[in-house]
Amino acid sequence: MNLSFREDYWGFPELKKEFISFLIQIHGLDLSFWDEMGFWDRKYRPFSYFDGDSPISSVCIYSMDMTIRGQKRLVAQVSAVGTLPEYRRRGLNLELTQKAMDWARVNHDFFFLFADEGAFPFYKKCGFRQVGEYKASVSVSGGIARPSADKLDIRRKDHVELIYRLANNREPVSDVLGVSNKRLFMFWCLYFLADHIYYIAELDILILYKRDNELVTVFDIVGKSVPAFSEVYSYICAESDETVEFLFMVDKLKLGSFDQVRVEDNGTHLLGDFLLESSKFIFPYTAHA
Ligand SMILES: CC(C)(COP(=O)(O)OP(=O)(O)OC[C@H]1O[C@@H](n2cnc3c(N)ncnc32)[C@H](O)[C@@H]1OP(=O)(O)O)[C@@H](O)C(=O)NCCC(=O)NCCS
Repeated sequence: MNLSFREDYWGFPELKKEFISFLIQIHGLDLSFWDEMGFWDRKYRPFSYFDGDSPISSVCIYSMDMTIRGQKRLVAQVSAVGTLPEYRRRGLNLELTQKAMDWARVNHDFFFLFADEGAFPFYKKCGFRQVGEYKASVSVSGGIARPSADKLDIRRKDHVELIYRLANNREPVSDVLGVSNKRLFMFWCLYFLADHIYYIAELDILILYKRDNELVTVFDIVGKSVPAFSEVYSYICAESDETVEFLFMVDKLKLGSFDQVRVEDNGTHLLGDFLLESSKFIFPYTAHA
């Protein structure tokens, strides 16, 4: 095999294009839209083996700006991991992951990632341990929704600008475990949460949530300051709502009492010292890369 190693190559458009095709093959995820909208993130750094002009095995480190127990930290998320089927089980991705982690170890506090079940043995081999996460859950009795939470449409330029303005100036949603990577947040808005973005003009905040029957799931709250949930709830509630759950730490929401429910099938893995590991925690949903 005559493979070449390349890292940090986003400055070469043809290589970036090859990486995007590679990721479609591995994960069925097409990052071109994120790129075309201008939100590609240089904090996302690739480490890849190429066969000719195409990547055949790759790992990215996403440098995450985190707030952990009130302190600003730089943390490394391992992401976009894959090897094309015909090149698997030759030690390629293990080598790349080690190279990537050697690079990141210098200025990142610890490593984390969200794995598919099929890759658990691989990450174990890389030294990661699986950890549980817990989401806050509160019982509510629905009221009459105010009419003024506006659903945003990412096909509209003015709405995308509004979302990015707020993402750019956001306060971390939690002081215990908050993240402020604005371009990654835009990825979520453009892809998997595109149907769930609402703007509350009176508070100048975004709230990303969905309703399934009587359950409301809140993915993120984004603004210059994070309001108490009681300020927000009347904008999103329905009479039938029974439970609201939050996919981030809720220390700023002044919820009073709440339950902490274990997240099923989360695949979260850690390597290194994580301050919150002995307590119940959850990484913000919109920080998954
Ligand atoms: C997981 C994946 C990236 C591994 O890539 P790879 O280049 O084949 O990995 P390596 O050859 O470096 O594997 C190193 C070690 O990890 C373990 N490992 C890797 N794949 C494994 C598998 N499918 N089952 C069990 N153990 C595995 C083995 O211990 C292996 O060493 P060995 O071959 O000497 O036994 C690859 O299988 C893949 O792309 N899978 C599909 C996409 C995916 O799941 N990505 C991760 C999403 S979170």
